[in-house]
Amino acid sequence: MQIDIVSVFPEYFDVLNLSLFGKAQSKGLVSVHAHNLRDWTHDVHHSVDDTPVGGGAGMVMKPEVWAECLDDLLGLEPREMNADGESDSNSNSGAGIPDGADATATTSAAAGESPSNGTGDAEHQPASDSASADTVPDSDSQAPTHNLDTVLIFPNPSAPLFTQRDATELSHAKRLVFGCGRYEGYDARIPAYYRAQGVDVREYSIGDYVLNGGEVAVSVMLEAITRLLPGFMGNPESIVEESYTGSEALLEHRQYTRPAVWRGMGVPDVLLSGDHGKVNRFRRDEALARTDAIRPDLIEQLDCAQLSKADRKT
Ligand code: ADE
Repeated sequence: MQIDIVSVFPEYFDVLNLSLFGKAQSKGLVSVHAHNLRDWTHDVHHSVDDTPVGGGAGMVMKPEVWAECLDDLLGLEPREMNADGESDSNSNSGAGIPDGADATATTSAAAGESPSNGTGDAEHQPASDSASADTVPDSDSQAPTHNLDTVLIFPNPSAPLFTQRDATELSHAKRLVFGCGRYEGYDARIPAYYRAQGVDVREYSIGDYVLNGGEVAVSVMLEAITRLLPGFMGNPESIVEESYTGSEALLEHRQYTRPAVWRGMGVPDVLLSGDHGKVNRFRRDEALARTDAIRPDLIEQLDCAQLSKADRKT
């Protein structure tokens, strides 16, 4: 999987050279490039933001700089939009969103290279929304798609919540391009424009709190997505049993290790019984009970057809 991250703090992603992610890069499972958005500025101050139209506090990231950067990374030509929020010319459709690590602009800010045009001829994803010149579509319609090619992702505290389901879906993409916002966020026309160009654009929040920028959110999403790649985890079975995995999202049962008694505290007897049936039942009951107590919203979303008689008793 090829991963491009655009940020005004690309060094933030140096940590991706460590640990399992670092190993995954060495193994060739993932190839990551962190780009500095300021490399696409032309003014002496390398400015990427401006005051909000309509007033208000803070600064908003400018569409021009983002577009120069994303056009380069996605191999798209600049287009003027008409009053219906469509591209005046269709010549971007079918044009290249590069699908391979080698076919793209892979400017490494750390390496101090300058931006270059990406080329390629991979198909575009169908637009999930179309932009309008005076109204900007929201990002609620994020229907699952399979065999994803390139997906452009913006973290945004005002977007739908990123879930395990999204992580699973995105783990099938060939290429992910993340755009990290800062300040009061990015101009809303940026995602709208790329949707209108046929790019599969997603906006996600990682939780109901506000961070200083998208970098942490991208790190969270990236880890949730890439650990699902075949070969990424040492023990792939650990993924199957985890919370939020599979068709039902339950919180996981609690875990214990040795010693069986520690500081006077024992582990549940059933876990020492050697009876796998009983152990599984105990764990399943605990998962259901904990989910009901801590995240009743997840219980409400459960597909009742998948609950056994014994589950229902819990
Ligand atoms: N940027 C700032 N806060 C965020 C959040 N909660 N999720 C995604 N992106 C963000």
